[in-house]
Amino acid sequence: MVRIIAFAGSARRHSWNKKLAAIAAEGARGAGAEVTLLDLADYPMQIYCEDLEAEQGFPDSARRFKQLLAEHDGFLIASPEHNSAYSSLLKNAIDWATRREGEDEPPLMAFSGKVAALMSTSPGALGGLRGLVSLRMLLGNLGVILLPQQQAIGLAATAFDDDGQLLDSGQQARVHSLGEELVRVAHALKRP
Ligand SMILES: Cc1cc2nc3c(=O)[nH]c(=O)nc-3n(C[C@H](O)[C@H](O)[C@H](O)COP(=O)(O)O)c2cc1C
Repeated sequence: MVRIIAFAGSARRHSWNKKLAAIAAEGARGAGAEVTLLDLADYPMQIYCEDLEAEQGFPDSARRFKQLLAEHDGFLIASPEHNSAYSSLLKNAIDWATRREGEDEPPLMAFSGKVAALMSTSPGALGGLRGLVSLRMLLGNLGVILLPQQQAIGLAATAFDDDGQLLDSGQQARVHSLGEELVRVAHALKRP
């Protein structure tokens, strides 16, 4: 069975991007995947520094996050846009997860050959679309296959209902189908 991990690049309690990731995760679940919904707030990591890593080793949160990525076939990532780029929280978590623990570990083992679908939402009209450009480039450079489809949902403050679903049925369907499409592609890539 295809395994998908869904998370937001925000640790904020009432994050719109967490809601968006959860909707796409439902789509992936509906398409038959085993889905893990992760909250980066549960994986606190210091800002990456080589001195810190050399002196204190790998933080437990970073190891657990990296291990989880490695155990899944595909990623559903919803990232806030911070000053036209993806969030520094997301970059930091990815940076830690690219680090090897020991010579025997293959390079980029948490990323290489995985498939990802990207989305964003923000209170602004563009919905964080600009941040996805650099996130797509970063993940591609790590060996991740990116779905061409993505979703950016604008006007986040009025886009969701109290249950975290999108009020616009077309948007809701498109975010669902992003999760479904990720499962379809991950499944195809998994086939021997
Ligand atoms: C430092 C900072 C920079 C931001 N820059 C942008 C931006 O460039 N574009 C945008 O649409 N929203 C921007 N925002 C607003 C975020 O989109 C908004 O806080 C959003 O709710 C964060 O996502 P979350 O709800 O998932 O935590 C910025 C917010 C912060 C704190």
